[in-house]
Amino acid sequence: MKKKSSIWAVIAILVVIGVAVGARLMVWSGDGQATVGGPFAMADHNGRAVTEKTFAGRWMLIYFGYTYCPDVCPTALGVMSVALDGLSPAERAKLAPLFITVDPDRDRPEVLKDYVTAFAPDMLGLVGNAEQTDAAKKAFKVYAEKAKGGDQENYTVDHSSILYLMGPDGKFVQHFPHGTSAPDLLAGLKKHLN
Ligand code: NI
Repeated sequence: MKKKSSIWAVIAILVVIGVAVGARLMVWSGDGQATVGGPFAMADHNGRAVTEKTFAGRWMLIYFGYTYCPDVCPTALGVMSVALDGLSPAERAKLAPLFITVDPDRDRPEVLKDYVTAFAPDMLGLVGNAEQTDAAKKAFKVYAEKAKGGDQENYTVDHSSILYLMGPDGKFVQHFPHGTSAPDLLAGLKKHLN
């Protein structure tokens, strides 16, 4: 009897995992185009107000992270930097590389500017207040939470690491997961920009 109930417990767990994976995949299939992305309102690292409309007519390559990130963000932005350097000037002019901070308390505009332009001179850092940041995270299905164990000034932020390519109409086109190589990212970008 006991054995039987443990088998059912295992089946129940597998069903839950299956549903969770299925829901996650749905985000990226067909319908995903409607469910990832959307309006956002923030300031860029020069203090100008920006929304998704600011970039209308250009492609957007969007990454969410924070400048104090010890390794994940530098790795992803390093890949992005190399891929962007592989684009022709004409291709690059069609693309807006954006870094949206998930740590608006510490990533003030001047901090962001120094950070992102070190990876790419045309990259723009975007920062919102807590509400605007949460709205952008929600729209892009980004996970980002302060890790436990830090204090007010010294903390890390656990966050998802995904590059989103949005079309000139602002709609989701493709994502590039963490670990995508620079050549693969470059090939993916070229495919769409031409
Ligand atoms: Ni990071």
